[in-house]
Amino acid sequence: MDAAAGYDATIADWRRDPEGYWAAAARGIDWDTPPARIFDPSLGVYGRWFPGGQLNTCHNAVDRHVAAGRGLQPAIIWDSPMTGRVETITYADLLDRVARLAGALAARGVAKGDRVIVYMPMVPEAAIAMLACARLGAVHSVVFGGFAAAELATRIADATPKAIVTASCGLEPGRVVAYKPLIDAAIGLSPHKPDAVLILQRAEHPCALTPGRDADLLAAMDAAAPHPCVPVEATDTLYILYTSGTTGAPKGILRDNGGHAVALHNSMSLVYGVGPGDVFWAASDVGWVVGHSYIVYAPLLAGCTTVLFEGKPVGTPDAGTFWRVCAQHGVKVLFTAPTAIRAIKKEDPDGALMRRHDLSRLDALYLAGERCDPDTVTWSQRLLGKPVVDHWWQTETGWTITGNFRGLGLFPTKPGSGGKPAPGYDVVVLDEANREVPPGQIGSLAVRLPLPPSSLPTLFHADDRFREAYLSAFPGHYSTADAGLIDEDGYVWVMSRTDDIINVAGHRLSTGAMEEVLAAHPDVAECAVVGVRDTLKGQVPLGLVVLKSGVTKAEAEIGRELVAMVRDRIGPVAAFKEARVVIRLPKTRSGKILRATLRRIADGDDYAVPPTIDDPTILEEVGTVLKGAMR
Ligand code: COA
Ligand code: AMP
Repeated sequence: MDAAAGYDATIADWRRDPEGYWAAAARGIDWDTPPARIFDPSLGVYGRWFPGGQLNTCHNAVDRHVAAGRGLQPAIIWDSPMTGRVETITYADLLDRVARLAGALAARGVAKGDRVIVYMPMVPEAAIAMLACARLGAVHSVVFGGFAAAELATRIADATPKAIVTASCGLEPGRVVAYKPLIDAAIGLSPHKPDAVLILQRAEHPCALTPGRDADLLAAMDAAAPHPCVPVEATDTLYILYTSGTTGAPKGILRDNGGHAVALHNSMSLVYGVGPGDVFWAASDVGWVVGHSYIVYAPLLAGCTTVLFEGKPVGTPDAGTFWRVCAQHGVKVLFTAPTAIRAIKKEDPDGALMRRHDLSRLDALYLAGERCDPDTVTWSQRLLGKPVVDHWWQTETGWTITGNFRGLGLFPTKPGSGGKPAPGYDVVVLDEANREVPPGQIGSLAVRLPLPPSSLPTLFHADDRFREAYLSAFPGHYSTADAGLIDEDGYVWVMSRTDDIINVAGHRLSTGAMEEVLAAHPDVAECAVVGVRDTLKGQVPLGLVVLKSGVTKAEAEIGRELVAMVRDRIGPVAAFKEARVVIRLPKTRSGKILRATLRRIADGDDYAVPPTIDDPTILEEVGTVLKGAMR
């Protein structure tokens, strides 16, 4: 089939009969009770998918493949240059380990609907813990290992978990990250205390267990009886994933069981063109949505082999690692963040390390997490000689909003664009008056409701915040908080955020949260954090602080203290390395800091001097500081 025709026909099918499209996709999932309806607009905040259906996500990801005779097929390949180990876990092994961890959690009182926090490095037990929760109908909330104790505490307080599953340590290049002190500090800070903490003891840095609360994870699994799958409603929650909002309070993105299983299973053939037995590698972290969707759930739902990688694109040991993993394990599709490719490109610009590996089984490279600069797309296309697809998505959606679809035959890519909308997403560009703008014109990217299956039905116990944050700006639409355009050919170009979120090495961070930390410094009168352009990480945060009058401490010392505070309260992942003292910040006459203007200057974009500004000369001063910080 002609590629454009394949895409156009599928979109036309979906537009003609959206419920028919999703009913067909739902046949890829085993249901204990088939859904009574495909979509019910009267339920939830904007409607719910597959109400009345009952299923178990773990059954669909694990048990059914064993029952179908695929027990000896590798389910997970753990490749850890950090420890020098490679371990293959078959579907039968995975079933055994997941069922026993589910048993261990059940023995500690975890049941359907209870929350469990998973704070893990990139080890198989992270995926096993997530699947064990799904097996019980419990709700997992995975917290990325690069967050500090205070961020973990916020999530413990909000999710009120019955148990935490963790490890004794994570491994970063050149340092061991001891998790136990972080867990203890977080539990100490949180008003809610979990009943049980299960700890994977790693040989690199075992820890002492707190009597009465902690247990050795592997010993608990050995002692446990395997637990069967518990059927849940399609609309029951599978997980909560906290993501940065515009304030310091993270948003608990809710994912249901039914819509998630249907959309993710469908996406493996539709978007990536892979099926049972294929090896798929998402080089991300289980703490991010890409890790949830494409390290754990989607590849397993589709009966693929997934690679779980504990390492970095460079330095573990070199910029050829990604290609070594692809060649060694026969990866068919690789998915990573543009920043990882930029890091590789910087160290191996001519592809000498790439050429040492047999990449004949690799069919395509998919990129997401931030906009991929055209140069990185064309560089990787040229050296790999394979299609490179930039696709746009968010924690909120759990799968791609726009992209290019191997399952339909790829249409030509336009480097710098995120491709065309996936079936399920009616993407529009709106102006401030909620009117669609003509092709080629920049505006706010929004999705006409309803969102497709897998997208968030609401925020965890915060329907009002959900409405306010996502549905109120453009009535009848979900606001993505991204700005961009749709061109004459229907390609979507995602250019920037419209809020205070910055994207650092594919990680989504709130400048508001960092400002809250800086403002707590005793010498800081006011502050702003902006993302300045960085050739490797896309953006890096820069703090601009105005000191209280009479402060005599050296500016450099205050800068060091501020960097340490952000690392301590948010975590190393914030990559907050610099704070500069400025005399004043640009403000309106009513005293509001002109953040949008600061953002435009930091992005290197044209900006108009706001008519409400109290003193336009400040823009020049601050602009000089921001330009000096760009790398
Ligand atoms: N636990 C503890 N600390 C962590 C961590 C974890 N799981 N992950 C990252 N960190 C730390 C790093 O050690 C680093 O600390 P440092 O300031 O002491 O050096 C800091 O957080 C920033 O980490 P990172 O963003 O990974 O930057 P880096 O400089 O170590 O590496 C890249 C740069 C480009 C190689 C790296 O950012 C990368 O691989 N990015 C891919 C991002 C990605 O997969 N995003 C997911 C979206 S799909
Ligand atoms: P996260 O929720 O962490 O996945 O971050 C989502 C945000 O990252 C989006 O709202 C975009 O701002 C940005 N993003 C992710 N993928 C892309 C992409 N392919 N192109 C442009 N921006 C992207």
